[in-house]
Amino acid sequence: MTMPLVLAHRGASAYAPENTLAAFRLARELGADGIELDVQLCQDRVPVVIHDDTVDRTTDGKGRVSDLTIGEIAQLDAGGWKTEDYRGEPIPTLAQVFDALSDWLHPVGRARPCFINVELKTERVFTDGLEREALNVIARYGVQRNILLSSFSALSLYRAKQINARLARGFLYDASMPIYLRGAWTRWLASPQALHPEHSMIDARYMEWARRKKLQVNTWTVDDPDTARRLASLGVNAIITNKPDVIRDALK
Ligand code: G3P
Ligand code: MG
Repeated sequence: MTMPLVLAHRGASAYAPENTLAAFRLARELGADGIELDVQLCQDRVPVVIHDDTVDRTTDGKGRVSDLTIGEIAQLDAGGWKTEDYRGEPIPTLAQVFDALSDWLHPVGRARPCFINVELKTERVFTDGLEREALNVIARYGVQRNILLSSFSALSLYRAKQINARLARGFLYDASMPIYLRGAWTRWLASPQALHPEHSMIDARYMEWARRKKLQVNTWTVDDPDTARRLASLGVNAIITNKPDVIRDALK
C-alpha cells in the first residue's frame, strides 16, 4: 500500500485559525506533506487566502471579500476568533504564503518539497480575473511544480488551463451537490488529472472507475483515523485533513 499524501485543510485548522500563516506553519511542524488553501480576489484584484465570500466568520471585520481593498483586508484580525493566542494573525495574500513557506517549497538536500493545493474559490460564470491573478503569483514565485489547483467550478479550472495547461488540476465535488453535478460530468471542461470527491463518495467501485479513467483521487475532509486507513487501503493519492498529525499517525 502506498502511503497517501497528507495535506492540511486550510492549514492545521483544527488547532490554528484556518487559512493563516500560523496554520500553514503548524501543518509543517505536524508532519503534513503540504497544505490546502482557498483563494479569491479582493477589490483591487489581489489573490487573498480566505474560505468564505465574506470576512464575517473568521475575522473581526464585516463585508464581502470582493468589496474590500487589500489595505482594509490587511487590518483585519483573522486569528482572535480561534483563540487569544492567535489574536492579530492576518489574512495572508497568496504571495505572502509563498514567501512564508519558501524553504518548504524549495527545500535543500533530500527533503521533499511541499504540495500546495490552491483551491480557486469562485462560482462565477464570467471571471473576475481570479485565475489569471493567482497563476501570475504562482509563476512569479516559480512554484508551479508544488501546485495542485482545484475548484468546484469546472469553468474556473477550464480558464486556468487556458492560461497554463501544465499546472495540475483537481475537480472538487461532493454528494450534497445537485444530481447533475454529483456525477462530475462537467469534468470534461476542466480536464483534470485528479478528482477531489468528498470522502463518503469513495468505495472500491469508485476507485476502480477512477483508475480506468486514469484519474488520481484526492479526498477531503478526513479527520478520523479509521476512515483514513480505509481510504489509504483503497488507494487514494492524497487525504486532506484538519488534523495532519492524527492522520499521519493513523497511516504509519
Ligand atoms: O479542497 C477540499 C475542501 O477544501 C473543499 O471544500 O469548502 O472546505 O473549501 P471547502
Ligand atoms: Mg477549500
